[in-house]
Amino acid sequence: MRIDALPGHGAGGTFGPIAGRTDVKATLTIPTGPDAPSLPSLKAPARPAAPPPSSARTMTPWLVVVLVVVLFSGGLFGYDQGVISGALHGIKATFSLSALLVEVVTSWVTLGALLGALAAGEMADRIGRKRTVLIAGVMFTLGAVVQALAPGTLVLVAGRLIIGAGVGVAAVAAPLYAAELAPAAMRGRFVSAYQLAITAGIFLAYLIDGWLSGGDSWRIMLGAAAVPGLLLFAVALAAPRSPRWLMMKSRRADAAVELRKIQRVEDVEPQLDAIGAALRQESERASWAVVFHREWRRPLMIGIGLAVFQQITGINAIIYYADQIFASAGFATQSAQTTATTWAIGGVNVLATLIAIAFIDRLGRRKLLLAGLTGMAISLLAVGIAFRFIVPPAAGATPAGPSVAGIVTLLALVGFIICFAFSMGPVVWTVINEIFPGHIRGRAVAVATAVNWGSAFLVSQFFLTLIGAMGNSLTFWLFALFCVVAWAWIYFRVPETKGLSLEQIQLLWKEHS
Ligand code: BGC
Repeated sequence: MRIDALPGHGAGGTFGPIAGRTDVKATLTIPTGPDAPSLPSLKAPARPAAPPPSSARTMTPWLVVVLVVVLFSGGLFGYDQGVISGALHGIKATFSLSALLVEVVTSWVTLGALLGALAAGEMADRIGRKRTVLIAGVMFTLGAVVQALAPGTLVLVAGRLIIGAGVGVAAVAAPLYAAELAPAAMRGRFVSAYQLAITAGIFLAYLIDGWLSGGDSWRIMLGAAAVPGLLLFAVALAAPRSPRWLMMKSRRADAAVELRKIQRVEDVEPQLDAIGAALRQESERASWAVVFHREWRRPLMIGIGLAVFQQITGINAIIYYADQIFASAGFATQSAQTTATTWAIGGVNVLATLIAIAFIDRLGRRKLLLAGLTGMAISLLAVGIAFRFIVPPAAGATPAGPSVAGIVTLLALVGFIICFAFSMGPVVWTVINEIFPGHIRGRAVAVATAVNWGSAFLVSQFFLTLIGAMGNSLTFWLFALFCVVAWAWIYFRVPETKGLSLEQIQLLWKEHS
């Protein structure tokens, strides 16, 4: 299968081998000519000479609406994940929870997210991306209200599950929606905006946790998510449908209407032809068997691999347990720990994500991933070394403040967050949402997302156990080792997808299977 099998693409030169692989000799036929889309090399992406028809770069009003849907979905994901640490104190006081129930209240959001993600794949393929986002909006609102009004633990846990399911559904539907509606040249930035919103949600949750404390204020913390939940529903109601999904449902006329509206161009026929041609190549009907079929094993392994590496390199151990890490690094008071966590972790995470937004469509996915993982490994190595020099205060003694090693830990964690925020955070979600063929995209993204939540659950569940068993230094060095493994795996297995349309990306797998 050649790129020029797509309508409107002439024959031209060839590229190879793929992504640093020397064993793969296959080549891609590259279209040339003034109007041809330029296909970046897989290992060293070149700037497209002329934007292809599918790579409009104009930010139209409807694309802004798409962006707002994505921002609300990501923001709610981050907020609902981040808010619990601050709310837990009050919940424990109101319901006098056992240790087991504390764990259930904390972690069942992840469980709900895992189930929600799996269900959302099927939903997104059957009822469409937009309606699936609407369902997420309803779940966010309902879950927030149920939690805020919970008269007892059982209802509270039900609310945690509902909101978790909302997070899972949104985590599949929103980036998928963004990836399908954004023009190819802006796709990375759109999906990275989703990550930016996640980080802003976490940051806001940290801030609100800091401002509100005591009594029943946990009800406000958890209930506050109902407002953006409702707003998400309202904006998604007005938002355009995915032309790619409409084409999948053989609704070409509707797809044309939406595409004209979104991109503000009259002649959308070449794009619809390209989408249609790619769909014809994928003759099978969407089913779970097709998702796991040999033909799509390579993108599936890449999606799952990235999802796992994003978590086992340690991000959520740091996001969830930053206060405790700072405490063991000598930040003695609760307020010193909260300030360090809010600004050094939460604030820096938001700011550094802007780097990805600026560069993901220019430098490409691979360069950001490889640079980010290098920085993450060095930072984790430094955290591990610093912990070797941290002496716990004698029993009963009040530490004078963070030692030099404590400050080094803080700086190294900031370095880690910066590097994650411009690489493994946004780029992983971007790649997961662009590598699968249209007919299985919803389900395959759902599998990768569910694996991501499963890995997040395991890491957050076992982080403290690991520290107890191996000590701080070895635990952080283990995360650093995973960064090195991830680096090598990405170098050899993950191709560059910058600037390619979703249809062109499918040809990578056909050429190299
Ligand atoms: C990850 C989350 C993580 C967040 C931190 C996301 O990309 O999927 O698990 O908490 O980044 O910014």
